[in-house]
Amino acid sequence: MSKYQSVIAPVAALRSKKRGIVSGFFDPGTLALWHSDILTLYMKILITGSSGMLGTELCKALEGNYRTLGMDLKGPRSEGYGPQRFFEGDIAMTGDPGKVFAESGADLVIHAAAWTDVDGCELDPDRAYNVNTTGTENVCAAARDVKASVMFISTDFIFNGKKRTPYVEDDKPGPLSVYGLSKLKAEQAVAGTMERYAVVRTSWLYGKNGKNFVDTILDKASREGAVKVVQDQIGSPTYAKDLAWALKALIDAGVWEGKGVYHACNTGECSWFDLAAAAIGYAGLSDSVRMGGLTTEELGRPALRPGYSAMDNSKLQKRTGMAMRQWKEALEDYVKNDRSF
Ligand SMILES: NC(=O)c1ccc[n+]([C@@H]2O[C@H](COP(=O)([O-])OP(=O)(O)OC[C@H]3O[C@@H](n4cnc5c(N)ncnc54)[C@H](OP(=O)(O)O)[C@@H]3O)[C@@H](O)[C@H]2O)c1
Repeated sequence: MSKYQSVIAPVAALRSKKRGIVSGFFDPGTLALWHSDILTLYMKILITGSSGMLGTELCKALEGNYRTLGMDLKGPRSEGYGPQRFFEGDIAMTGDPGKVFAESGADLVIHAAAWTDVDGCELDPDRAYNVNTTGTENVCAAARDVKASVMFISTDFIFNGKKRTPYVEDDKPGPLSVYGLSKLKAEQAVAGTMERYAVVRTSWLYGKNGKNFVDTILDKASREGAVKVVQDQIGSPTYAKDLAWALKALIDAGVWEGKGVYHACNTGECSWFDLAAAAIGYAGLSDSVRMGGLTTEELGRPALRPGYSAMDNSKLQKRTGMAMRQWKEALEDYVKNDRSF
């Protein structure tokens, strides 16, 4: 077999598999080998929300091994990093995902697009359900039409926060907010309609290319010299770059060929106050910034948040062999090396 043929054959095998054709020509051992190396070079992964905080990191993490396609309301942010091919589209418009997925020929859709403004969702539930739930239903319908799998990015806010040990994948959901419920309903739409899917829950994301808590605190701290931060909510902060690599590890491990729920977050837990204090420390601002604590009640936000929503990521570690970093190590890396001021 020529070098050229050895590359074409696995791609043909994947396409046949997508169409439900069982080929007697390929033996399973060889297919497994192809799947893990050569084949991945040709798999097309479409990222919804590709211009967002996670989407941008995903484009970077996947690019070397997969063909990256992106769909978002608008193109990559100027300083960001984009997919190899970008499609403008709105997941909440029934026709858009169908048109984009058909044109792109996606094998796997990482569905990261969402309306992530938790308080905004509380104040405008129609928009929240339209984007987060109906949008996900549209994504699933379009993915089924082109026989693509879906990896759906969900949230710790589907839990009610009554536990005091990290949530595992099988724990009962009980969202407290419109945002949490809109994402839980989306999870149910994925699990209820897709033959092949992964739901990946993450939490407290920060990183480049998106509005996030760490940047907000550091901006306020350096501008005003004082910050007040909530002390009675505990979770697992997660660097979007680390999450993107964890998602790649899950894809490399082939989770998109089955069904499953995974928790992917940096390891350990802390309060928003602890997170702010650590970020301020890594930015070298500890001596010049006054910090004060607040309760959730004092902050008085429209949406309720879980008091405790740390998540256990050991299922991910077992499946991929990859351990996600401790939250402090990831935060230090972001603040000292990656964050642009
Ligand atoms: N951020 C967190 O703390 C957090 C925590 C847990 C889970 N998650 C989940 O992780 C995923 C990624 O979050 P992220 O922080 O990266 O969010 P993000 O930065 O807001 O990215 C989401 C992207 O989706 C786009 N989008 C919004 N509505 C859309 C629509 N109708 N059609 C197409 N694109 C649309 C957004 O565009 P615009 O910016 O123009 O709206 C944005 O570019 C989301 O599914 C979120 O629910 C996030």
